[in-house]
Amino acid sequence: MKILAIETSCDETSVAILENEKILSNIISTQINIHKKYGGVVPEIASRLHFENFGFVLQQALTKANVNIKDIDKIAYTKSPGLIGCLHIGKMIAKTLACYLEVELIPCNHLHGHIYSVAISNNIIFPTIALVVSGGHSQIYYLKKDLDFKIIGETLDDAVGEAFDKVSRMLGLGYPGGSAIQKQAKIGKPKIGFPIALNDESFNFSFSGLKVSVLNYINNNKNKNYFNISDICASFQETAVKNLMLKLKKAYKKFYPASIILAGGVSANELLRNEINNFCKKNKIKCLLPEQKYCTDNAAMIAILAYKKLSNCK
Ligand code: KG4
Ligand code: ZN
Repeated sequence: MKILAIETSCDETSVAILENEKILSNIISTQINIHKKYGGVVPEIASRLHFENFGFVLQQALTKANVNIKDIDKIAYTKSPGLIGCLHIGKMIAKTLACYLEVELIPCNHLHGHIYSVAISNNIIFPTIALVVSGGHSQIYYLKKDLDFKIIGETLDDAVGEAFDKVSRMLGLGYPGGSAIQKQAKIGKPKIGFPIALNDESFNFSFSGLKVSVLNYINNNKNKNYFNISDICASFQETAVKNLMLKLKKAYKKFYPASIILAGGVSANELLRNEINNFCKKNKIKCLLPEQKYCTDNAAMIAILAYKKLSNCK
């Protein structure tokens, strides 16, 4: 069975083709260079670029997979969550293709797609806990079995990726912030004590206080001779990761899962990956991390999720 998947929820236009559980192609056209100028994603520009770029992304995906569009059996697409205009472009194209090819349309949840990005190269062992961290969301899920998504905690304000992006902007490091902060953090020392918010019994997060603390630190210290951007990045990154680990460990202690999944754009973060890996090793459970190429938005994760949905219905 061949699935063609479409992902257009934010600033990446992506098409993937999957045959059974194998990804034949996963083409991603990123709009980062355009949005960079504005310091973040401009929704209207993002929708127009999806429309403009979709044709060649589709063509490249088919060519790389060596598949004729007439041989596609199902069309999957990201239904939500995401930027509404961007989602509409993806949905319209998906519906048109499904109608033309007379095949089934499979709407998919973007965050569930991130979770299943780890299934491209691993078997998920259930029950599992998934920490989903992206530019728009920070959530902890409990999955007792395949596709049984239960949100047990989420951010009450900013997403952690959003905090990386905003701190990066404050420091003049550009968009997207995650990789820029990680790079600076490598040459800095985590010596500034930023606060961990919402250190309570829930599995929820709050990152706006951390963001404001960094802003206050910058405003109060920018003219001092010890002011060091790398140290700020290292300290911010360490606090954000500590905060995520604190709630993940709490969730582990309540549910004792057989594995832990890390997913979403922030899963590209090396410190977070190492912390989760070490935690899983210590507790002798399986650690499921997406390959770097499947961390940020891509259609391969939508394709594998659609495949699991279809297999689950049999
Ligand atoms: O999942 P994603 O591609 O898009 C959304 O669904 O939001 O996630 C993008 C987010 C951005 O906020 C970006 O700064 C963050 O992932 N990110 C990182 C890293 N690489 C990307 N955050 C921390 N460390 C990284 N290495
Ligand atoms: Zn995403």
